Amino acid sequence: MERGELAGKTIVLGLTGGIACYKSAELTRLLIKAGATVQVVMTEAATQFITPLTMQALSGRPVFTSQWDNRIDNNMAHIDLSREADAILIAPASTDFLAKLAHGMADDLLSTLCVARDCPLLVAPAMNRQMWANPATQRNAATLRGDGIAILGPGSGDQACGEIGDGRMLEPEDLYEALAGFFQPKRLAGRRVLITAGPTFEPIDPVRGLTNRSSGKMGFALARAAAQAGADVHLVAGPTSLATPYGVTRSNVQTAQQMYDAVMADVSRNDIFIAVAAVADWRVRDVAHDKIKKTGDADVPTLEFVQNPDILAAVAQLPKPPFCVGFAAESGDLEKHGAQKRQRKQVPLLVGNLGPATFGQDDNEVILFDEAGQKRLPRADKQALARSLIIEIAARLPSRTPG
Ligand code: CTP
Repeated sequence: MERGELAGKTIVLGLTGGIACYKSAELTRLLIKAGATVQVVMTEAATQFITPLTMQALSGRPVFTSQWDNRIDNNMAHIDLSREADAILIAPASTDFLAKLAHGMADDLLSTLCVARDCPLLVAPAMNRQMWANPATQRNAATLRGDGIAILGPGSGDQACGEIGDGRMLEPEDLYEALAGFFQPKRLAGRRVLITAGPTFEPIDPVRGLTNRSSGKMGFALARAAAQAGADVHLVAGPTSLATPYGVTRSNVQTAQQMYDAVMADVSRNDIFIAVAAVADWRVRDVAHDKIKKTGDADVPTLEFVQNPDILAAVAQLPKPPFCVGFAAESGDLEKHGAQKRQRKQVPLLVGNLGPATFGQDDNEVILFDEAGQKRLPRADKQALARSLIIEIAARLPSRTPG
């Protein structure tokens, strides 16, 4: 979740009857934190699982449950509520509600406002696995997809009834991410993006190693922004505890050599390669099999290093390279070093930043270097910056050859 990401957006959050209603309380909090206005509408059945009072307190707005509600001036809640919305999200969406939507039924406020809507509709099914697998439900889900309604999930796992299988409502964080992504322009639709992120860890012995202060935040933010822009994203991450962004495939590695191997195994199918990782330039030549023991005051071990492969340069030199984007972490004179590094690595775009001012921070300031020269992007938090970088990358992509 990113603060302010949904500022100015109004979401009608519809709850239908299901135990997953408790997750919608948390979802409401996330949407509010992101700056959205949340108008909750509940079916009669939903009020059996969570009270309108709880949802009102969390959303900060009165909850609507009845089409006969006279709080709206013209008494047409089903029209007014949908006209104010940028999107309607039904979470949880019960078996019954999916069936009603598929048939355009309108016998309560929530179903009526869905039929009367003039904005996108997203549904998050939540039901027992047999109910989800039932051919009628699957038919209804197919009809909804055909009507342009986004079906989020369902997830798989333990169910409230004690059974295990498909039908769980997605977790609130995932629903939030799906909705936030929904609002982003699909600049990278149909593109595959490979990203390296985080530090590497080069072992000295089984308990010690060399690493650096990269947190991985910038690379993870770029992976999230690329996925939100519609790309199929593979993130190769060094050791970091950051959560995998929604919809992103992740491979975990430790050393520069492992990162190189993971990238080389996948790179040929990608349209874009973004090297954000702070890759260790050197590794220890002979990694000790056992822990190096302290034997005496004067006896200090000497480490000998060998150079690691340069992943970005290797990808850029492939016969048919993807569009390559490098990062440069410098400690000073960024304008000179950035331009030189772009030349040296032979990449079309290089993003320069000052390492000490960015490592571990939530915001960053960068200069873009390309063949036309330099462009400075204003200081911003890493997620906003990632979105700007995706726009810059998308604008520079060679257009696709037909076929
Ligand atoms: N990079 C890489 N593999 C390496 C070293 C760097 O893929 N073995 C990539 C980084 O992910 C980044 C870019 O190359 O996109 C520049 O990294 P940086 O550490 O700034 O540059 P170096 O080539 O290591 O140059 P120097 O340390 O001399 O500044």
